[in-house]
Amino acid sequence: MGRAFVYVIVGGGVAAGYAALEFTKRGISSGELCIISDEPVAPYERPALSKGYLLPEAPARLPSFHTCVGENEERQTPKWYKERGIELVLGTRVKSADLKRNTLLTSTGETISYKFLIIATGARALKLEEFGVKGSDAENVCYLRDLADANRVVDVMQSCTGGNAVVIGGGYIGMECAASLVINKINVTMVFPEAHCMARLFTPEIASFYEGYYESKGVKFVKGTVLSSFEFDSNGKVAAVILRDGNRLPADMVVVGIGIRPNTTLFEGQLALEKGGIKVNGRLQASNSNGSVYAVGDVATFPVKLFGETRRLEHVDSARKSARYAVAAIMDPENTGEFDYLPFFYSRVFALSWQFYGDIGGEVIHFGDFSGGKFGAYWVSNGHLVGSFLEGGTKEEYKAISKATRLKPAIDDLAMLETQGLGFALAV
Ligand code: FDA
Ligand code: NAD
Repeated sequence: MGRAFVYVIVGGGVAAGYAALEFTKRGISSGELCIISDEPVAPYERPALSKGYLLPEAPARLPSFHTCVGENEERQTPKWYKERGIELVLGTRVKSADLKRNTLLTSTGETISYKFLIIATGARALKLEEFGVKGSDAENVCYLRDLADANRVVDVMQSCTGGNAVVIGGGYIGMECAASLVINKINVTMVFPEAHCMARLFTPEIASFYEGYYESKGVKFVKGTVLSSFEFDSNGKVAAVILRDGNRLPADMVVVGIGIRPNTTLFEGQLALEKGGIKVNGRLQASNSNGSVYAVGDVATFPVKLFGETRRLEHVDSARKSARYAVAAIMDPENTGEFDYLPFFYSRVFALSWQFYGDIGGEVIHFGDFSGGKFGAYWVSNGHLVGSFLEGGTKEEYKAISKATRLKPAIDDLAMLETQGLGFALAV
């Protein structure tokens, strides 16, 4: 059994949705494009899962957040794909890939061949077992990567209103889920090994603001330690979390956000890997693929022209833009220059909202009013502005820090930059 397509996307997440949009904008014929996803639903805006999806009142539910609503485009429901002759193969896993023969083998036993392949397999959540802790399958232990995980969080959360949640990990999932749990009237303790939250991005000063804000909402922080084991009740549910420092935290539920691993297994041994992802060139083409295989989104490690280094980014803007770029590079190679991406991360929790552009590294200059909730930071490396962070900005202000970072202006006087603060970006 087999079918042949011109374009095949493996993975049906954010990047797949935006690639499909770009294919239709550039014009494809019915039957040319196929998307294979092991999720049972059409591509959706994954960020909704830790925010709108977990709200106690009027929570977001599909079909309201299918891609590409995030970009004010048409919502891509299954009907949208059907009307455009795009084959959406859902609930189906690609089990193996033969890049020499341009074929994929699916879990239903079908062989699907392609002329161009876009790898958009994203990433999976790391499990506690990978750190030597057992208990991930207990019914009140939750991860959050896909819709099934989000439904589990909702069910468990609803069964323990007024109870205690322990959130393991102080990164994006930890911070966003902790906020959602508080909104659902659950007492939250966050546990992470670092000295402060969001250690991959935040400076101690920035982290201190968010931790203070969370504490004002009742969240407790246990820093500098990790869990060593769970205590279970007679039904096999977790009853408490035992920490390496010996402390015991009673728990009605546990949410784990300890990082991700890109889904590269299908291609290991066939394509070069770097920084945990599939290494691609400035046109997002993978190695050894005669220009027929592209990788985008969380799974791709690509050159960030602006910084002259490769990065693997785990953020939605990068997934959207790399996907659209790869389609442009496939369909109009002559008029498509190299991918030139400015990294952009953001988060929204409670009434707070921040944006970050560029790169961290070098010296950090903080500015603004930390107690008033409008502040930011610049990163200056080798005499140039390379990164900008802003909490509580307006649309124009975010645009200004984005533009300033993209221009990488020379900074001769750090004290002056500190004095000018946000004014510096607004004047660039
Ligand atoms: P994505 O994970 O979206 O999709 C991969 C797809 O491939 C999945 O459908 C998967 O099932 C499928 N797949 C994998 N292997 C397969 C196989 N062998 N066969 C078939 N299908 C396969 N970012 C941000 O900038 N701001 C934010 O607020 C958030 N919020 C957020 C919340 C939550 C809960 C999560 C989990 C993540 C975020 N992110 C985020 C990160 C953002 O969602 C992420 O960067 C993008 O979803 C990446 O898009 P991809 O398409 O690369 O992977
Ligand atoms: P992360 O990398 O942001 O954070 C992982 C955290 O796990 C670390 O900060 C650390 O505190 C903790 N940790 C690591 N090992 C641990 C251990 N053994 N025990 C306890 N804690 C440990 O990853 P995440 O929070 O799991 O997020 C998963 C993915 O989802 C990331 O790719 C992230 O970018 C994405 N995401 C992004 C957003 C956003 O951009 N707003 C929101 C949600 C999720």
